Amino acid sequence: MSRAGASPEPSHASGGEPPAPQHVAIIMDGNGRWAKARGLPRTAGHERGVEALRRTVEAAGDLGIKYLTVFSFSTENWRRPAAEVNVLFGLLKAYVQRDLQRLKHEGVRVRIIGQREGLPPDIAELVGRAERETAGNSAFHLTIAFNYGSRNEILRAAEAYARSLREAGDTGPLTEEMFSSFLDTSGLPDPDLMIRTSGEYRISNFLLWQAAYAELLFMDVLWPDFGRAHLEGAIAKYHERERRFGAVVPGAS
Ligand code: IPE
Ligand code: IPE
Ligand code: MG
Repeated sequence: MSRAGASPEPSHASGGEPPAPQHVAIIMDGNGRWAKARGLPRTAGHERGVEALRRTVEAAGDLGIKYLTVFSFSTENWRRPAAEVNVLFGLLKAYVQRDLQRLKHEGVRVRIIGQREGLPPDIAELVGRAERETAGNSAFHLTIAFNYGSRNEILRAAEAYARSLREAGDTGPLTEEMFSSFLDTSGLPDPDLMIRTSGEYRISNFLLWQAAYAELLFMDVLWPDFGRAHLEGAIAKYHERERRFGAVVPGAS
C-alpha cells in the first residue's frame, strides 16, 4: 500500500471520481475450486488466497477505501477436515507474523473479529498482539473475521448486554447503537458494499446485523484470482447503485 490513507481525500472533490465506499466487506470464497481446477490440493488454493488478500489490502488503501473486512474462517468451517482447518489456522498465523510490522508502519489498524474462545493459545496471543500494536493507527482499518459467525456474534453480544444489566442495572431501553456496541464490530461503520467471490449467492453467516443496508455484489471470480482490477470493477458497480435506506429519493416519480 502506498501508505494507506496518505491521500484520504478522493479526487471527486475536484470533479473527478465519486468517493469510494467507506467500508467494503468481502467473503473470500472459491479457494478450493481454484485449486481443484488445477489438480492441486485445496490447501494450495488457500495459500494463493493469502496473496489475493495482500493485493486487495494494498489496492483498497490506494482506491480510497478506509475499512476492509474480510471473512477468513467461519464458525461453520470447523466442519471441514482437521488437516484443512490446521492449514487455515497456520496461514492466518503466518500472515499476521509476516505482515504485521509492514501494516503497522503503513498506518493500518488490524482487528480480528469472531469468537476467541476455541482458538489455539498461540493464535489468540498473536491476534491480541496485532490488535494492541496497531491500536493507535487510523489510516486504514483491516478487520479479519476468523472463527466468526454472525449468529454466534449476536448471541455473545446478547450475553454481554445481559451481563451489563446485572452489573450496572437497567440503563433504559436497548437501542440499536447500544446493541451494536456489544458486537465484535463495535466502533466500525456498517459496510457499504459486501462482495462475495466464487459465484455463490449467499451470505453464509457474515455480518448479518451490520450488512442490513449494504449493497451486495456477487462476483464470478474465484478468490485466489481476485486483484486490483476486480476491486475497481466492484467499486464501479457500487457507483451504479442507488442507496435509498428505505426513503424516497428526491425527484423520483
Ligand atoms: C474460501 O474458499 C476459504 C474458506 C472458506 C476458508 P473455500 O475453501 O470455501 O473454497 P470453495 O468454496 O470450496 O471453492
Ligand atoms: C464462507 O465460505 C466463509 C468464508 C469465506 C470464510 P464457505 O465456503 O464456508 O461458505 P458455504 O459453505 O459455501 O456457504
Ligand atoms: Mg467456499
